[in-house]
Amino acid sequence: MKVLGIESSCDETGVAVYDTEKGLLADQLYSQIDLHAEYGGVVPELASRDHIRKTTPLIKDVLSQANLTLSDLDGIAYTSGPGLIGALMVGASIGRSLAWGLNIPAIAVHHMEGHLLAPMLESNPPQFPFVALLVSGGHTLLVDVKSIGDYTILGESLDDAVGEAFDKTAKMLGLAYPGGPVLATLAKTGQADAYKFPRPMVNRPGLDFSFSGLKTFALTTWNNSEKTEQVKANIAHAFQEAVVDTLFIKCRRALESVKSKRLVVAGGVGANKRLREKLQQLNADVYFPRLEFCTDNGAMIAYAGATRLQAGEAEGAIIQPRPRWSLEELTVPA
Ligand code: KG4
Ligand code: ZN
Repeated sequence: MKVLGIESSCDETGVAVYDTEKGLLADQLYSQIDLHAEYGGVVPELASRDHIRKTTPLIKDVLSQANLTLSDLDGIAYTSGPGLIGALMVGASIGRSLAWGLNIPAIAVHHMEGHLLAPMLESNPPQFPFVALLVSGGHTLLVDVKSIGDYTILGESLDDAVGEAFDKTAKMLGLAYPGGPVLATLAKTGQADAYKFPRPMVNRPGLDFSFSGLKTFALTTWNNSEKTEQVKANIAHAFQEAVVDTLFIKCRRALESVKSKRLVVAGGVGANKRLREKLQQLNADVYFPRLEFCTDNGAMIAYAGATRLQAGEAEGAIIQPRPRWSLEELTVPA
């Protein structure tokens, strides 16, 4: 079964074709970073308009990359939420109407299920069950994953998501947008013991997170310090260490709580090198998607959609994008 996947939930247009027999056939991504950079963050209306411009040309590109025509497709998967409503509407409208025109099934994919299943695109995919750490710009979740669609949230952020905390801290330090990867690069030149930042909520029982205090701690430290590039790098380093340590401690606790030895890490912050390195120290097998499939992409949507379409799921001829949508509302394909 050849499935076209369309991702348009935020500031990246991703389109891919996944074949349930041959694997990933083609994958294209257009990032809107340059468009939003001058505003220091995503401008939703500009994002929607740009998805309109880019989705159809990208569909043509992936089909030609895969040596396919529209009539070779067996299904279409599109991100239906969570995300920006206008941006979601674009991928959903194009995906659903194209499926209607081709008379093939369409499936609405949960963006975080896409992230969670992204490691399945690698040559050594994890087996179920596992614990997933999902760390993106909008979410920080620890999930007990029994099978596709059987998700229990073990912990989540009570305020800022990890990626959001990275981005806001970077912005405070005057770093370029998007801040996460820029801050991570700067952290490499920071001195290890210049500052010690707190590890929020690790002394309390439970698996929830809070990152907004850490961001404020970084701001206070910066305001009270000499304004040099080295100090900036030192703060970036201390911030990243605090985040990575906190995630490490909570992952270890989550694995113990469900007696699992398998951890899947996905979402944009999963591309963070220091986090990848640190989580290897867990007494567990740790799985990550390749770097480009940590951040938003069409391949994970094509894969998640193909899995559900293959199990016989499909949507009616309507679209219902959901800006807010909990993973726990998903169900196991019949
Ligand atoms: O999954 P994603 O591409 O989009 C959402 O679904 O939100 O995640 C984007 C987030 C941004 O906050 C970005 O700054 C962060 O992931 N990010 C990183 C790194 N690469 C991306 N944060 C820290 N280190 C990185 N290397
Ligand atoms: Zn994402």
